Amino acid sequence: PPNIPVANVTAHLSQLQSIASANGGNRASGRPGYNASVNYIKGKLDAAGYTTRIQTFSGGSNLIADWPGGPTNQTIMLGAHLDSVAAGPGINDNGSGSSALLEIALTLAAQRPTVTKHVRFGWWGAEEQGLIGSRYYVQNGGSAGVEAYLNFDMTGSPNPGYFVYDDDVALQRLFNDYYTSIGVQTEPERIGDGRSDHASFKNAGVRVGGVFTGASERKTAAQAAKWGGQANQSFDRCYHSACDTYPSNINTTALDRNADAAAHALWTLAVGQSQQND
Ligand code: PHE
Ligand code: ZN
Ligand code: ZN
Ligand code: ZN
Repeated sequence: PPNIPVANVTAHLSQLQSIASANGGNRASGRPGYNASVNYIKGKLDAAGYTTRIQTFSGGSNLIADWPGGPTNQTIMLGAHLDSVAAGPGINDNGSGSSALLEIALTLAAQRPTVTKHVRFGWWGAEEQGLIGSRYYVQNGGSAGVEAYLNFDMTGSPNPGYFVYDDDVALQRLFNDYYTSIGVQTEPERIGDGRSDHASFKNAGVRVGGVFTGASERKTAAQAAKWGGQANQSFDRCYHSACDTYPSNINTTALDRNADAAAHALWTLAVGQSQQND
């Protein structure tokens, strides 16, 4: 699997910050900062050869991007919510996952590997209002043919933990294999069940996985011992706040590792390589 250059991911984050700053300080669903975020990502994907569509619903929209090729009845889908809360620009939550997926999509397009599965990406609207966009997508047939859904919500928390969703053991192991290869311990993500867009797919019977670096919960002393950072402080002290900004509220190491972990998972599932490089 390719190494995803974190400088490209942070360049997208910087653009999302600029979009928020130019649009009242947020990228909340249905507002101008959200629609500008969709247009930014869609423009890059269209130029790279993706088939994109904007799916509108009451209160917002989703951006769906298909990489041409592979059997659509065997689809691997990666998703991230693109909306912020109204209180701030939503850089860690969830510009981080959104920007990582964009760069992974662009890397796939640049490399053009032979795929054994169909690959699709989704950027969800109105997650912050209760997973509305992803649920709308699933309820309108979007999960048909999806063999696995991988979710990326908050992947660059400034005081990061390394949590891997435990919903499906094979997908959990896929991420853990990557983390083992770089010598980083993980913990199973349990508290998040039902709290992000993977729940929409899981409820429809799709296998789900993902990674997460923590929200307002505090890092324990044991977690600080294995991951570094600050014990007894929140993983993200700016969660759902005006200070969820770029660059101050992003840990670039965590952002990089999770982008690379996602690429490892996608290439293993859809390209069929199991070989590891950085
Ligand atoms: N969905 C939460 C939010 O956007 C964050 C979260 C992600 C919580 C993953 C748990 C697991 O606020
Ligand atoms: Zn990288
Ligand atoms: Zn949130
Ligand atoms: Zn979120």
